[in-house]
Amino acid sequence: MTARRKLIAGNWKMNGLSAQLGEVSAIAQLAAGRSDIDVALYLPATLIAPAAPLAGTVLIGGQDCHQEEAGAFTGNVSAAMLVEAGARGTLVGHSERRAYQQESNTDVAAKAARAHAHSLAVILCVGETLETREQGDEAAHAWVVEQLRASLPEGASPDWLTIAYEPVWAIGTGKVATPPQVAAMHAALRTALVEALGEDAGNVMRILYGGSVSGDNAADILHTANVDGALVGGASLTAAKFAPIVDAA
Ligand code: PGA
Repeated sequence: MTARRKLIAGNWKMNGLSAQLGEVSAIAQLAAGRSDIDVALYLPATLIAPAAPLAGTVLIGGQDCHQEEAGAFTGNVSAAMLVEAGARGTLVGHSERRAYQQESNTDVAAKAARAHAHSLAVILCVGETLETREQGDEAAHAWVVEQLRASLPEGASPDWLTIAYEPVWAIGTGKVATPPQVAAMHAALRTALVEALGEDAGNVMRILYGGSVSGDNAADILHTANVDGALVGGASLTAAKFAPIVDAA
């Protein structure tokens, strides 16, 4: 059994102005008492610089970075920009970006590689839609495993890469995948990681669960086999809602 440190990560999505920086400080306070786990916050790009000095041990990250180094990509943020602002990591391949910005698996792998080239830790998100899940568990496992394989960057290593399984039908809906559904998907992803990266790296890479995680369900989710933490959207926006999830880890 490989010991993997749990990671509780918050994703603020397109939420948060400077008035909410007090929540970053309060979440830093929560994390300060927990040397046994990792805590991270993936903030809007505009909040990274003001949040970084408040974050203590909390890793501050961006929510995406462009796959190119720089250039004519209006509205995008580069890995170097995230680093300069004070980020130590980034999400890539979140289902909202895959859906609304038409990001492909190839794009996602390139974004992860670019982020790593700038020494950013990366969380790579995968997950199936309701339509795929309704084709049955086996179909959902096969689909997500293929998405993972196609999104994995060259040189993927647990030193800098974490996977997040986020079923699209569970994001922001209040519908949480059941512990048996999560266990089965995470087992399939674990097998795929071992195949792709070898026994050592494949067994050490963390796999988070995300999708309507809250204080009410965090303990069940976090005690499910192969669940190495949570990626939390709505319930990460305030320290009060995030605290019970950190406590459950
Ligand atoms: P949610 O979002 O916790 O609000 O469902 C999770 C995510 O999209 O990362």
